[in-house]
Amino acid sequence: MAKRLTAPDIQARKGGDKLTMVTAYDEPSARIADRAGADIILVGDSVANAVLGRDDTLAMTVDEMVYHTAAVITAEPSGLVVGDMPWLSYHTTTDEAVHNAGRLIRDGGAGAVKLEGGRKRLDVVKAVLAAEIPVMGHLGLTPQSVHAMGGYKVQGKQAAAAYELITEAKMLAEVGVFAIVLEGVPAVVAAMVTEEIAVPTIGIGAGAKCDGQVLVFHDVLGLHDKRTAKFVRQYANLADAAVEALERFFADVRSGDFPGEEETYHMPEESAEILRELTVDAGDLRNAGIDGDSFLADEAMER
Ligand code: KIV
Repeated sequence: MAKRLTAPDIQARKGGDKLTMVTAYDEPSARIADRAGADIILVGDSVANAVLGRDDTLAMTVDEMVYHTAAVITAEPSGLVVGDMPWLSYHTTTDEAVHNAGRLIRDGGAGAVKLEGGRKRLDVVKAVLAAEIPVMGHLGLTPQSVHAMGGYKVQGKQAAAAYELITEAKMLAEVGVFAIVLEGVPAVVAAMVTEEIAVPTIGIGAGAKCDGQVLVFHDVLGLHDKRTAKFVRQYANLADAAVEALERFFADVRSGDFPGEEETYHMPEESAEILRELTVDAGDLRNAGIDGDSFLADEAMER
């Protein structure tokens, strides 16, 4: 296995080569992200939207996030794997937050966790860091606050709100997060945060000045035909390619062209000859001097 990037490796990239981050929720998507060179793979709670078809991310549980994180780790990616802490997994007590963060590390195999919020979450961030778990912050349009924000709206558009966001980013950096995701904020605000703090910023709808960028796997690859946010750039249309491939499969089934010779198993002609004469039944085969059990076992093995 190639050496995996760590949270300190990512932190050390501040101001250097741009960081690449994408979500993944299972082994195949993690392998694809890894082959493409992702510095960070985020097992995001956006799995709720991208995979489960939900309108928001609030349904995800710690068990489900652990399950997806463990699947991603199976791909043995060389980028840092960050497990997203779902809604209500860090909003009650700091003890519970530490326990849940620990599950993403111990049971999921993540190298760090991400949690949303600034000023209100400082105690939780400190507690998780004190348990030796690296934390990635997330400010701006934080999807778990969808109801409190009154919808998915760009944050920090007014000077006072932008000032507060910059202050919160500084607070998070000072308590020790290794990076901060900035989502849905004006480019000028993200640029100021990036200037002001000593840890990398990773933007999603936050302009070009961040230290890195993140997008959701299914959005980048066009794996769905839903409307996407303004900040998404779709680099492929795999949904259309998949529909086309399945249409060809079904057409081949209907025409009898699938399966062909190369997708078909065969048996020795002499065995086929015996079969044609006998009922396929272990008793009949034994009467014919053939060990029926091993005959049937051999058949099963060939699959
Ligand atoms: O869950 C997620 O995918 C995220 C990214 C949008 C940053 O939090």
